[in-house]
Amino acid sequence: MPANWAAHLQRAMAAMQPEQMCSVEPQGAWVLREQIAKYLRNHRGIDCLAEQILITNGIRHSIDLVARCVVKPGDHVCVEDPGYPAVHQIFEEAGANLLYAPIDQEGLNLGGIIGATECRIAYVTPAHQSPLGVIMSATRRLALLDWAQRNNTWIIEDDYDSEFNYQSAPLPALKSIDTMNRVVYCGSFNQALFSNLRLGYMLAPPELQRKVLELWHTVGRSVGVSEQLGLAAFMKGPAFLRHLRRSRQEYQTLRDIVLETLRAEAPGRYRISGEHAGFHLILWLSPDQDENMLIHAAEQQGVVLQPLRHCCREIELAPAIVLGFAALTRAQAKYAARKLGQLLLPTPS
Ligand SMILES: Cc1ncc(COP(=O)(O)O)c(C=O)c1O
Repeated sequence: MPANWAAHLQRAMAAMQPEQMCSVEPQGAWVLREQIAKYLRNHRGIDCLAEQILITNGIRHSIDLVARCVVKPGDHVCVEDPGYPAVHQIFEEAGANLLYAPIDQEGLNLGGIIGATECRIAYVTPAHQSPLGVIMSATRRLALLDWAQRNNTWIIEDDYDSEFNYQSAPLPALKSIDTMNRVVYCGSFNQALFSNLRLGYMLAPPELQRKVLELWHTVGRSVGVSEQLGLAAFMKGPAFLRHLRRSRQEYQTLRDIVLETLRAEAPGRYRISGEHAGFHLILWLSPDQDENMLIHAAEQQGVVLQPLRHCCREIELAPAIVLGFAALTRAQAKYAARKLGQLLLPTPS
């Protein structure tokens, strides 16, 4: 929980005007949308206004709304492979026929998809691919936008962890170079503040925004005004950016504890990638290591490991673990990395 969150919420409640309690602001509280637009202009390079922002309860909610407005059963939707399993499921629930694009060193590789006609949506995580952590190159970003424009495809940009870069400032969002208005940008406060806050937003091209708003009206808006006003107050002063800075420092410390402990416990027995940003990194195992046995042995020591294969659909990758560190205390990070290091086998020379 961020410092001073409760005080901001309380103050916003006390200052709430009667019209704010009942007025119809289908896109969400204006004061919050203003703060989000300012944040996106200053920190993600996106030239946008409060009018274009729609408040949702998170990135998955935004994606679900877009899927329900756009996808008809049997429509093609392009997703990343490996990718975020919840998003694969959201599109499948909408009846989509998924096209899987692999990830290489430059990010999403559209090679196998480029000939596909009638692809309604392409879902991407360009800032820090989920789960591999690759940053999408500038060339790939331009190629993706160009393909989307020629095929009348919407791109969903999931910017779930761009606030947490440990080496350098993140590249501006894909949305910032979207001159043809093909990109639906989705952001969230559920990672940056706390997961049960349930507050996120989307920035959709006007044609799509109209459709989403109609659906929004039909199903009833689900984000309460109290948290929206509290968050607007939190973002207006220095508290929000201060919180991001402190969290970034703490996550970097946690990441370093994991890396240093593994290095000390099991030198040369694994390979790491995707560690420059975000809440997790990828630990590649020795080919001789039995992944299932490792996961089972770790679980017996109280360490829960997520195999990379849970994020894979068609792609076959070497055995690896998605190692999350941001939700741990320093002691837990050290304990988990030590136990894991003790279970890792040497890589064959
Ligand atoms: C790639 C990715 N997108 C989105 C989310 C979830 O966002 P929200 O909780 O706002 O739906 C996550 C959560 O882990 C994620 O990994």
